[in-house]
Amino acid sequence: MTQFSGSSDVPDMGRRQFMNLLTFGTVTGVALGALYPVVKYFIPPSSGAAGGGVIAKDAVGNDVVASQFLATHKVGDRTLAQGLKGDPTYLVVEGENTIASYGINAVCTHLGCVVPWNGSENKFICPCHGSQYDATGKVVRGPAPLSLALAHATVTEDDKVSFTTWTETDFRTDENPWWS
Ligand code: FES
Repeated sequence: MTQFSGSSDVPDMGRRQFMNLLTFGTVTGVALGALYPVVKYFIPPSSGAAGGGVIAKDAVGNDVVASQFLATHKVGDRTLAQGLKGDPTYLVVEGENTIASYGINAVCTHLGCVVPWNGSENKFICPCHGSQYDATGKVVRGPAPLSLALAHATVTEDDKVSFTTWTETDFRTDENPWWS
């Protein structure tokens, strides 16, 4: 008997849970719908171009012009530019007249300090807690748990430098990128 009434309860429970889910979904949907214009308002249009890339900006906010950049920087230089989502990102001069095809995100993977390049040590050394990264941004000393993020860097037809999201294997670790 109890078994019988028990089993007849099951559809009721299912229905109640379903209704709860529906109510929750509706409320969440309405809340998200109401928030959307607010959230959209606070996101600058440039940061929406996740796949489309951004033009690298210099310290005063001008577009980096590749030929000028190469004329004023020597091989091995790592220079901060504004990259994807406004993150400080190093442009690397890889050879005569060559900007490396990767930019190195300067945000320390420990607690987010901007990590300066130390040319004499040939490393990025974080001033906050001493984490170290090699010349490609691969972590070589903690407490940072991960290597610095990468972005693709390409020179556009009009001589600008464009950063795009790096979704491929991290060439330094042969692993999937942790940042995308
Ligand atoms: Fe860089 Fe802690 S934030 S080591």
